[in-house]
Amino acid sequence: MSNLNHLETKDINVWFGERHVLRDVSLQFQNNHVTALIGPSGCGKSTFIRTLNRMHELIPGAGLSGQVLLNGQDIYAEAVDPVNVRIEIGMVFQKPNPFPTMTIKENMTIVIVTHNMQQAQRVADSTAFFLSENGNPGEVVEFDTTENVFIRPKDERTNEYVNGRFG
Ligand SMILES: Nc1ncnc2c1ncn2[C@@H]1O[C@H](COP(=O)(O)OP(=O)(O)OP(=O)(O)O)[C@@H](O)[C@H]1O
Ligand SMILES: [Mg+2]
Repeated sequence: MSNLNHLETKDINVWFGERHVLRDVSLQFQNNHVTALIGPSGCGKSTFIRTLNRMHELIPGAGLSGQVLLNGQDIYAEAVDPVNVRIEIGMVFQKPNPFPTMTIKENMTIVIVTHNMQQAQRVADSTAFFLSENGNPGEVVEFDTTENVFIRPKDERTNEYVNGRFG
């Protein structure tokens, strides 16, 4: 079942009205891996995760470009019914209430949003660090194994964030 799912985004850009809030987010979510999305408030983590199952388009004024590929198929393709997408790609909000017969692990290649750096390190195989600087759209600064992001970050901004120097 969903163990075979491969999820990938290509150049996701998001607008709310005129306001550009996410720029060129391209991420690959590995099968059966947990990916954490981290970054300061307002960098676009929740907005991005809503694009993964077409909940974003339910927000008035929401715009989007780019692709979300589930097993190679763009969930935004004309022929695709968003209701089916939302059945296939579930969302679990902060108080988890998954389908009773399955653990969360058994469900969704998993993408989580967290402000808890300990939680990210405990549960996530990969981590994407999002940042919106000086009112610019949020972007992915670094995407790597969780260990590399927290222990050997390549970007100084990642280093400062994971060590609690801002955000
Ligand atoms: N419905 C909306 N209408 C207009 N702007 C929005 C809407 N939702 C979010 N935004 C804006 O988009 C940007 C990204 O917001 P988002 O909620 O995705 O950030 P976040 O990283 O999830 O923040 P937090 O850590 O506080 O949850 C912010 O500038 C926010 O003000
Ligand atoms: Mg959020």
